[in-house]
Amino acid sequence: MKRIGLLTSGGDSPGMNAAIRAVVRAATFNGLEVFGIERGYKGLIEGDIHPLGPRDVSGIINRGGTILHTARCKEFMEPEGRALAAANLAKHGIEGLVVIGGDGSYQGAAKLHAEFGIRCIGLPGTIDNDIGGTDYTIGFDTAINTAMDAIDRIRDTANSHDRIFFIEVMGRRSGYVAMISGIAGGAEDILLPEVETSVEMLIERLRTGQKRGKKSSIIIVAEGCEYGGAMVLAKRVSDQSEYKDNRVTVIGHLQRGGSPTAMDRVLASRMGVHAVEALIAGEAGKMVGVSGQQLQLRPLSDAWEQRTRFDMELLRVAHVLSV
Ligand code: ADP
Ligand code: F6P
Repeated sequence: MKRIGLLTSGGDSPGMNAAIRAVVRAATFNGLEVFGIERGYKGLIEGDIHPLGPRDVSGIINRGGTILHTARCKEFMEPEGRALAAANLAKHGIEGLVVIGGDGSYQGAAKLHAEFGIRCIGLPGTIDNDIGGTDYTIGFDTAINTAMDAIDRIRDTANSHDRIFFIEVMGRRSGYVAMISGIAGGAEDILLPEVETSVEMLIERLRTGQKRGKKSSIIIVAEGCEYGGAMVLAKRVSDQSEYKDNRVTVIGHLQRGGSPTAMDRVLASRMGVHAVEALIAGEAGKMVGVSGQQLQLRPLSDAWEQRTRFDMELLRVAHVLSV
């Protein structure tokens, strides 16, 4: 193998640039050429492919986003689109491909491998931390710290005004960001897509807290919670209870940007080196994950077949601590 390709796909996450740098530098170290592919599978189909050298990735380890840009690409879902992509890889003499993204991007990579024999290795890049085959994804640590910082700031003003705040964090299908940032921010309750919650129970919890002397409360709501987000939930609580004067903050895409934490930079760096070494060793159709302190290679399919679910015990801890 002489030449590999590299792309970022799906939702961006802080640390993708650190992963790009690691792949390019590890490849160079091992005598491989790297070609960067712009805007994920879209750029692959359109042939937007260019050489990427070790100096091209200087000064990016600390930057959020992805210098290769990212996209979602419907054409790649079709066999014709993937055939165009495979032809463009062949045209550039690219024999291996590193895909940085979530489980959707991995499904695309698995098809490219199965249908055209392209040797793909996946790196888990998503703030959601919902991919099977790894304890942590690149970007999660930064996102939870961003969310926690926002919660801390809201707490200040909530305390000053004796108010109830609903804070919506990201996670359409996964409550991991909500759960961890909620515990770290000392939230009074946390609502998640994975757990059924009744508005009545939430109101009861607020009343109990008030009886115990709480004057303000913070409820963390994952965007994918069954009520359809913090706005709807806050209105339901206001309609059904004495808690009329509540406030809502939607943190949104703030969680997707920003300089990655040391944890994300190091995770991305280790995983990038591992991906290149895996390709050199002849591996394909695998993803790099971390289990405990150890990096591991797992089949790409683990990502969507064994989607990570947090330990429900965490929710109990959150409730115990919000007494
Ligand atoms: P993520 O990788 O963050 O989960 P998406 O689910 O949006 O993000 O997937 C990113 C891209 O991967 C899609 O726009 C599409 O091009 C490709 N992709 C996703 N699922 C499939 C699939 N089942 N088959 C082929 N390609 C897919
Ligand atoms: O998968 C990452 C994520 O940020 C989710 O938490 C969120 O639901 C989704 O992407 C939003 O995606 P976008 O706004 O990019 O379409």
